[in-house]
Amino acid sequence: MLTHATRTELAALVGLACRAPSVHNTQPWLWRVDGSDEQPVVELYADTSRRLPAADPAGRNLLVSCGAALHHLRVGAAAHGWQPVVDRLPDVRRPDLLARVALRRGEVAETAARDLAAIAGRVTDRRRFTSWPVPDTRLEHLAATGSEEGATVVALLDLARRHRTELLFSRARTRQAEDRLLHAEQRAWVDHGARDGVPGALVPVGGGSRFEDAPPVEAGVEAGVESTDGVLMIGTADDAPLDHLRAGEALSALWLRATTDRLSVVPLSQVVEVPETRAALRHEVLDGGLHPQLVVRIGWQEIARSTLPRTPRRDLDDVLLG
Ligand SMILES: Cc1cc2nc3c(=O)[nH]c(=O)nc-3n(C[C@H](O)[C@H](O)[C@H](O)COP(=O)(O)O)c2cc1C
Repeated sequence: MLTHATRTELAALVGLACRAPSVHNTQPWLWRVDGSDEQPVVELYADTSRRLPAADPAGRNLLVSCGAALHHLRVGAAAHGWQPVVDRLPDVRRPDLLARVALRRGEVAETAARDLAAIAGRVTDRRRFTSWPVPDTRLEHLAATGSEEGATVVALLDLARRHRTELLFSRARTRQAEDRLLHAEQRAWVDHGARDGVPGALVPVGGGSRFEDAPPVEAGVEAGVESTDGVLMIGTADDAPLDHLRAGEALSALWLRATTDRLSVVPLSQVVEVPETRAALRHEVLDGGLHPQLVVRIGWQEIARSTLPRTPRRDLDDVLLG
């Protein structure tokens, strides 16, 4: 049995995990805290009622989002003196149980202050980046950080592969623009509610953001892949739920690192959502060796720019079971 004090402590860790990024800010996760004070356990479940039927019928983005939350939980736990031991997809009969995380008392991570600041400060900043190119070494460093999480993160440094990715990205956008159901779904998640969805205030005007036909708020800014942006691709050896979860952990790891380094990260999932462009990415950009899970663009935001408001999150009571 968990005492009230430990339960409260674990709930706070779940709160940190819920700061993770998720597709359209759907926050498709549920949590359960269990075990004893000596051996507490946090379980992560997929909330499949929050899957996006048009953009994400197979639930890939849902699992990538949950993987990001799992990594946030691990980092938050380590920053509070817990050593997390993760069992991913522990029960084949319950595919919605994504991970069981046993916590043991340990040392507070040396990087605790930095990691907690990164969780608190991380945000999807879709505004146009400055034209300062991100040095290749920085991109390789971020790719290496992500690759420690059981996925492979590739920095697209050569122009031919980058160019191909950009073309496929615009082809995916065109395909999705023709899909009325998908369009309606996307619009529905802009200003969706007080606790989820993408606030219209965070959507830039034109130029490439997937939410660009939402009410324009900040004139003159735009997003899309610019020639000076860094581009990383998260790939995996297989294409099963475990791979999607791992891709999300890699996303979180590289994003928290980038936040510490004052770099901005914007995921671009459309090119992976469209089966045709996902297959082309795999064969034409990744030479058939990896399954693409997510493309992210990386850049510097202008220092003088205002800090963005944080996106909302569901109440802990709504995501913490029993
Ligand atoms: C799997 C995944 C896919 C995403 N795809 C996109 C995308 O294609 N375009 C975009 O602008 N943001 C994308 N995002 C960012 C989310 O919209 C963002 O994380 C969410 O709105 C919460 O906001 P926050 O990251 O500022 O906390 C994606 C995030 C995840 C985890």
